[in-house]
Amino acid sequence: MVPAVGVGTWNTFDVSGGRDEADACARVDEALEVGANLFDSSPMYGRAERVIGSCLEGRRDEALVATKVWSRSSSEGEEQIQRALGWFGGRVELYQVHNLVGWRDLLPKLERLRDEGRVKVVGVTHYTPAAFDDMASIMRTGRIGAIQIPYNPREREVERVILPLAEELGIGVVVMRPFAEGGLMRRPPDARSLAPLEPFGVRTWAQALLKWGLSDPRCHIVIPATSKLGRTTENATAGDPPWFGAEERAFVTQICLQ
Ligand SMILES: NC(=O)c1ccc[n+]([C@@H]2O[C@H](COP(=O)([O-])OP(=O)(O)OC[C@H]3O[C@@H](n4cnc5c(N)ncnc54)[C@H](OP(=O)(O)O)[C@@H]3O)[C@@H](O)[C@H]2O)c1
Repeated sequence: MVPAVGVGTWNTFDVSGGRDEADACARVDEALEVGANLFDSSPMYGRAERVIGSCLEGRRDEALVATKVWSRSSSEGEEQIQRALGWFGGRVELYQVHNLVGWRDLLPKLERLRDEGRVKVVGVTHYTPAAFDDMASIMRTGRIGAIQIPYNPREREVERVILPLAEELGIGVVVMRPFAEGGLMRRPPDARSLAPLEPFGVRTWAQALLKWGLSDPRCHIVIPATSKLGRTTENATAGDPPWFGAEERAFVTQICLQ
């Protein structure tokens, strides 16, 4: 699988009203144009699923949808799934159990949809290391094909067990929070100091951080979120080789720790 940049939708696609929805669709247009065609959403992200679904109307085939089910109630989970299938043309490429919530009840529903051909891959997500033991146990059952985890130079706990296990089991890895929820973008280094990364096609700090994640061969896709038109074009560039080696990854890490 070739590493790639997708689009996160937390906080950035929870919009309503003509102008804001038109702006959201312009960001979807941009993403599709530059090949950042996987959109990650969740019923936890307010109106994001509905907005993405409506922006994809008439061109659903151009996109890969990764969404989630998130409920302790089996019946509410079922309602979330039916609503999402309605918004996404009856199918979802990657369906994930959000934060492992209710996974014993919800995973069988997603597996059934996969058996029916309405879901391609079933996965689970979690954002905190406290849940990684449970995530590893689910990975070992052989029932899931993908995980979504936080990974950036400041959050590296997945390197201990989760990433080696994903590699061993052949599980796809979606990287959330590549900018630590924007925390790593607050004081970007001077562009000139990134000169050693230019041979890798990196011109901006955002690209350096995204390429840092994608250069780990165990990671398959990063899903940065942005509310600004133009930034997905900048971000998508990080999905092209050449990849960083250990030296360039250490260089980026060092800047983050300063
Ligand atoms: N499953 C889970 O538990 C979970 C948890 C968290 C996130 N996620 C998923 O992962 C996605 C990404 O994580 P995230 O949204 O928390 O944070 P993130 O992608 O690490 O950071 C988002 C922030 O980065 C900024 N940004 C994006 N591109 C930029 C660029 N080129 N230059 C400068 N700033 C840039 C955005 O600001 P602007 O809007 O100003 O561009 C935004 O504030 C989420 O949207 C969601 O889909 C999942």
